[in-house]
Amino acid sequence: MTRSSPKTFHIKSFGCQMNVYDGERMAGLLEGQGMASAASSIEADLVVLNTCHIREKAAEKVYSEIGRLKREDGSRPMIAVAGCVAQAEGAEIPRRAPTVDIVVGPQAYHRLPELIAGAGLGRRGIDTDMPLLSKFGALPARRRPGPTAFLTVQEGCDKFCTYCVVPYTRGAEISRPWSAIVDEARALVDAGAREITLLGQNVNAWEGEDEAGRAQGLDGLIRALDRLHGLERIRYTTSHPNDMTEGLIRAHAEIASLMPFLHLPVQSGSSRILKAMNRSHTADGYLALIDRVRAARPDIAVSGDFIVGFPGETEADFEDTLKIVGAVKYAQAYSFKYSPRPGTPAAGMAGQVPAGAMDERLQRLQALLNEQQLAFNRASVGRRTDVLLERSGKKPGQRIGKTPWLQSVHVETEAPIGEMIRVEIVSAGPNSLGATVIA
Ligand code: SAH
Ligand code: SF4
Ligand code: F3S
Repeated sequence: MTRSSPKTFHIKSFGCQMNVYDGERMAGLLEGQGMASAASSIEADLVVLNTCHIREKAAEKVYSEIGRLKREDGSRPMIAVAGCVAQAEGAEIPRRAPTVDIVVGPQAYHRLPELIAGAGLGRRGIDTDMPLLSKFGALPARRRPGPTAFLTVQEGCDKFCTYCVVPYTRGAEISRPWSAIVDEARALVDAGAREITLLGQNVNAWEGEDEAGRAQGLDGLIRALDRLHGLERIRYTTSHPNDMTEGLIRAHAEIASLMPFLHLPVQSGSSRILKAMNRSHTADGYLALIDRVRAARPDIAVSGDFIVGFPGETEADFEDTLKIVGAVKYAQAYSFKYSPRPGTPAAGMAGQVPAGAMDERLQRLQALLNEQQLAFNRASVGRRTDVLLERSGKKPGQRIGKTPWLQSVHVETEAPIGEMIRVEIVSAGPNSLGATVIA
């Protein structure tokens, strides 16, 4: 069956910030082909579901989304499944959901135009190749970033934590070249970005060579970006404890545009469980690292990821997790119940934890983490700081922005989005702060 080529598209991204970045790059690619972005799936000729495979719940979402794409008259848009489920399940997806026209992995989405043309001729396209780095070179420049933009500098993972699908869905660790990153950052700033968040599954494993051919790590790259005129804030995520170099820690002490925020997942506070997870660091090693980071930048906000109920986790192991949380005092955190993923070593391990125990542990952990987040926010009251305005709030005259510590701030001001304003924090809740403008 042939059909007219799609004129409008809608991209729905699930999962991590890298998927959000990929979604933006796909949008730029499709706009470059003359297609227009539609506000919703219902109005679009082509729907791209940019999927996440990290936990079972996230991965199953794609099938319910596909089911929802049928219109009242029985017709449906052209459907492309992109992202990490596409990579992990490939041809299995159209077997389960025959209305899917295109399956395209995270390293192959620069080939979407050919796949769309093929689908228009009735040819289902499946592309889960991992051609090293060719995607970035083949994508057009981005237009219209907001005041804060993502920039992928590193992709893939060689760590093989025993619970995790990312090394399989995103492939081996690769670093984008220095000049490509600096050029993209400059273009983002020229187009209005004031803050850039450097992205990577292990962003602090980034390595490359500068213009002079000198070996550089992420800290060197950050120093180069710090010199870009008009770029006021630099962030990076996600980091692995083992790639936290002395240079990067020093950068937090020395570079004013590098924001005082560090997302450094530990997953568990039990060194026995960390070993079974293949994290290759201990709980004490992690705590010593946090101490070094705080010595360099005392006000740094630390954020983390946690998994409860990893196979073999006992009540005592879990209490070690509560203990490490108590010692670190997190400003923010994400915590998850362990989800066995097909093909990962942990899925076959003995000692799978019953659902009830997992629920109960997650509740206890989240109660502690929420308490810490509220305490961190409350300690900000009375502080004077800069806020980068990112969007309008619900109330008229209200704007929402972020502090250097990544806290959301509601403030009444007529200052335009993208402006950096000086405020005093006057109130604090679990998820956001209130502030008044300082004249
Ligand atoms: N590269 C990053 C995180 C990638 S995934 C890192 O190593 O820190 C984001 C988070 O999802 C992980 O930190 C972990 O906490 C969680 N996660 C990954 N696989 C999971 C699984 N099988 N079950 C539950 N949570 C998982
Ligand atoms: Fe997954 Fe571990 Fe790699 Fe993070 S470091 S992406 S958790 S395998
Ligand atoms: Fe999900 Fe893939 Fe990101 S599995 S968390 S979208 S790297």
